[in-house]
Amino acid sequence: MNILDALRTRFEPVLAEWTDDPSSVIEMLKASQDAKFGDYQANFAMPLAAKLDGVKPRDLAVLIADKVDLSDFCEPLEVAGPGFINIKLKQDWLEGLTQQLVPDERLGVPVTETPQKVIVDFSAPNVAKPMHVGHLRSSVIGDANYRVLQFLGHDVVGDNHIGDWGTQFGMIIFGFKNFLDEDAFQQSSVTELARLYRLVNQLSDYHANKIAVPTRQTEIEQLEDKLKTLEETIDQSDKKARKQLKKLKSDIGERKSELASMQEKLAELEQNEDLNSKAAAFPEIARLARDETAKLHAGDAENLELWKQFLPECLDAIQVVYDRLNIHFDLTLGESYYQPMLADVVADLKQKGLAQESQGAICVFAEGLKAPSIVQKQDGAFTYATTDLATIKYRVEELKADRVLYVVDSRQSEHFQLLFATVKQWGFTDLELQHVSFGTILGKNKRPYKTRSGDTVGLESLLDESIQRAHTIVADNDEAKPDGPELSEAERLQIAEAVGLGGIKYADLKHNRDSDYVFDWDKMLAYRGDTATYMQYAYARVCGIFRKGNIDRNALRTEQSVLQLTEESERALALQINRYSEILESVAIEARPNYLTNYLFELSNLFSTFYNNCQVLKAEEEHIRTSRLLLCDLTARVITHGLSLLGIRTCERM
Ligand code: ARG
Repeated sequence: MNILDALRTRFEPVLAEWTDDPSSVIEMLKASQDAKFGDYQANFAMPLAAKLDGVKPRDLAVLIADKVDLSDFCEPLEVAGPGFINIKLKQDWLEGLTQQLVPDERLGVPVTETPQKVIVDFSAPNVAKPMHVGHLRSSVIGDANYRVLQFLGHDVVGDNHIGDWGTQFGMIIFGFKNFLDEDAFQQSSVTELARLYRLVNQLSDYHANKIAVPTRQTEIEQLEDKLKTLEETIDQSDKKARKQLKKLKSDIGERKSELASMQEKLAELEQNEDLNSKAAAFPEIARLARDETAKLHAGDAENLELWKQFLPECLDAIQVVYDRLNIHFDLTLGESYYQPMLADVVADLKQKGLAQESQGAICVFAEGLKAPSIVQKQDGAFTYATTDLATIKYRVEELKADRVLYVVDSRQSEHFQLLFATVKQWGFTDLELQHVSFGTILGKNKRPYKTRSGDTVGLESLLDESIQRAHTIVADNDEAKPDGPELSEAERLQIAEAVGLGGIKYADLKHNRDSDYVFDWDKMLAYRGDTATYMQYAYARVCGIFRKGNIDRNALRTEQSVLQLTEESERALALQINRYSEILESVAIEARPNYLTNYLFELSNLFSTFYNNCQVLKAEEEHIRTSRLLLCDLTARVITHGLSLLGIRTCERM
């Protein structure tokens, strides 16, 4: 049961006496931060009183507390401080509620009464290039949201809206026509296509850098001049000037290191005879590759044939990564799927008077937004926005969507603002659209995470490294056990896989998704702290208790054993277990899996406190022992279930 919901439902009609819109303040009823303020706390008396003339918040809190009837499951309400209402659940009620969880496979989480058809648009790499660290967040956050919504009973469709029609195809087509290694292609076409993509990319970068280097040098010289003048004239007591000086120095340092890495790359390529001659042969390679894309889009038979040949290979390559991450899609309808619909979309927008010509392009000017959305460029080409509009129409008309989540980098937020505004005007007013945006993964230098040589980090090699590191940690931990190691090599490998992949996913999910985060191996895989490892370990610890006591967990659940919450730490643990439902509901509404990671971390901590304070196997009396074993069992079930909704596995031994 969702306790928070139950409380709010009781308060809402009471609040209606003092406000026309109780729903606007009802969220101020929350779980309390500190047990001394009760289990839940309501703070709405303050904002409500502020709107009423001459009413003191505390008096209003007393009036509300008197009026609302919670006597069936709460202790009498307490009003504290300037007007907080503290709510404490009745002990026997909480015991009964916890008891009901024992046989409940859903762990107290009801199936929604208002199921929606939800499309989760996630991962969506531009295929034809290998997946890299930049694809991690959308894949992992999208997958977690998918799983939570599905568990709550929504009809969820995971759609991988891959970029399969973009410039990267021009690059491999160009590479295929000019640099193909036939034998390699026969052996493994995916590997050869990836090589061709990297080669063409490298050669285009080479020429771009060659042009950029002198400009960079001039820029640095100018900054150095500025620095010199500043150093000569600076008044050391001027704090602002000192700050400016420091910033200038760091800017120069940064640019110099960028320049150095550009020069290094240029030199590296020039030293390679083969690459050097290729670079010399195609100074215009970037444009030539773009021309191949344009030909593809214009329907050129040869390029279309090549595209059709390459696409399945590209899909196979990304599937390898999804299989490793245990991520599943119901649909993979990429950008190319919508190409035949784009002309009609533009025609319809024009006909409805929403799109107009502006400087040769066709634009939509959405109400309240400054920038227009371009749906057809001067040269007749359709855009990313046109494709997204066609996609929405398809999702509503064919898939019957009620809600669409776009799990996409925050750098695209303007695109989605324009898109959503356009869609409303276009007439899809009932559709709920949500940009589930996220920040960037940074390196320790607080810049986007790269390899030491400055290249993007491949996703597969990242997963490999994580599993390898996890293996060392698991093996060390096993060796250090007081009674000697317990695990076979096969078990260690299995655990390392769960810890390594879980660690990466968890580190990504635990942050507020809007912010950037720093990728840190040591923190991510640590046994202590807010990590998957810590929770996986808590789970294994509970399994250990059952092993040691030779206890059949299924029997324990069915034997009508009675649950009691005598100790404070038992009560706190039970309350947390019962909050699972309200947490999942909040994840589903805001598409924020970090609510679930926070919850699980707190649950593991409360379990630790309980386990340190209370004897379980050696409990003084049989009925206490049984009751505590039930609490252990429930904790482990919520941890493993919660982690599974995050796409993370647990192991019975670690
Ligand atoms: N392929 C796009 C990119 O890599 C992301 C697509 C996201 N989904 C969408 N419907 N726009 O930037």
